[in-house]
Amino acid sequence: MEGLAERARTILVTSGKGGVGKSNISLNLALAARRLGRTVLLLDADLGLGNADILAGVSPRHHLADVLHGRCSLAEAVVPGPGGIDLLAGGNGLVDLPPLDGIRWRKVLSEVARRDWQLVIVDGGAGLTGPVRPQLVAARELLVVTTGEPTSMADAYAVIKLVATHNPGARLWLVANQVRDEREGRAVCERLAAVCATFLGVQVQYLGSVPFDAHLRAAVRRQVPLLAVAPGSPAARAILTMAARLLGLPAPATGGLLAFMARLGIPALKRGGAVAAQD
Ligand SMILES: Nc1ncnc2c1ncn2[C@@H]1O[C@H](COP(=O)(O)OP(=O)(O)OP(=O)(O)O)[C@@H](O)[C@H]1O
Ligand SMILES: [Mg+2]
Repeated sequence: MEGLAERARTILVTSGKGGVGKSNISLNLALAARRLGRTVLLLDADLGLGNADILAGVSPRHHLADVLHGRCSLAEAVVPGPGGIDLLAGGNGLVDLPPLDGIRWRKVLSEVARRDWQLVIVDGGAGLTGPVRPQLVAARELLVVTTGEPTSMADAYAVIKLVATHNPGARLWLVANQVRDEREGRAVCERLAAVCATFLGVQVQYLGSVPFDAHLRAAVRRQVPLLAVAPGSPAARAILTMAARLLGLPAPATGGLLAFMARLGIPALKRGGAVAAQD
C-alpha cells in the first residue's frame, strides 16, 4: 500500500521578491490540477499576509491562524473553493500569531494529513527569513516564481541558494511570470538556471512562463480565479500547460505532506515506518 508519507504531493510555491505572482499562480495551478482530475488543497501559508481567500472570492469564517490559536478545528477552517478545490486561508492583518513551528502548527498539519488530498499546493511567503525559512528547508518540491527583472531574479537566486545549501536534493522548478512571451520567459529561466548550475551545482528545471495578461488583473479585481473566468486567456493556458507538465512527473521520493511535516520537525510523524498523525 502506498505509504502515507508519499501521499498528498506537496508543492511549495515561493519567491525571493514579493508581489511577483505566487498567490495567483498557486490558486490557478490548484484549479488546473483539479481539472486534471486531482483532489487539491490550497494551503495559504503566508500567515498574516494571506490573500488566497480574497483571490478565490470566498469568505471563510476561520483561517489557518485561528486553527493555530486553537480557536477552531481544521475541519471548520477548510472551505470549498472555486473550481472544486479546497482552501485553507492564511488570514490577514493579524499580528498575534504563534510561531509557525509551534505546537499548534504541528497539530494543524497532523489534521491536514488525515484528509486525503492528492495534491497540496502551499502558497508560501516571499523572502528567506521568519516562517518562510523552515518551509524552504522542509519542502521536497518547490516552485520558484520570478519575473524578468534583475531584482526578482537575484532574489530567486538567493532562495535557490538557501534550498541548495540546507535542503539538498529538493526538486526545484522555475516559473517566469509577467513576461512578454514564452521565449522571454524561457530565456529568463535558462539564465538563472545556468547561474545556479555554475555557482551552486544545482539543477533547476524550467516549468513554464506566464505572460503578462490583463485578464489576470481583471480576475483579481473581480475576485474570481483566472481559470474560472477566462480559461482561454494566454496566462490561463500557460498555467494549464504548467500543471500538465508538473503532474506528468511523479512526485519526488518522500514528497508527500507528512514527510514535509516530519522535516518541519514533528516528532510524532517521524516514528517508525508507518506515519501516525497524532495530536
Ligand atoms: N501574469 C500576470 N499578468 C498580469 N498581472 C499579474 C500577473 N501576475 C501577477 N500580476 C499582478 O501582480 C499582482 C500580485 O500578484 P500576487 O498577489 O499573486 O503576488 P504574490 O507573489 O503572491 O505577492 P506577495 O509576495 O505579496 O504574496 C496581482 O494582483 C496582479 O495584479
Ligand atoms: Mg501572495
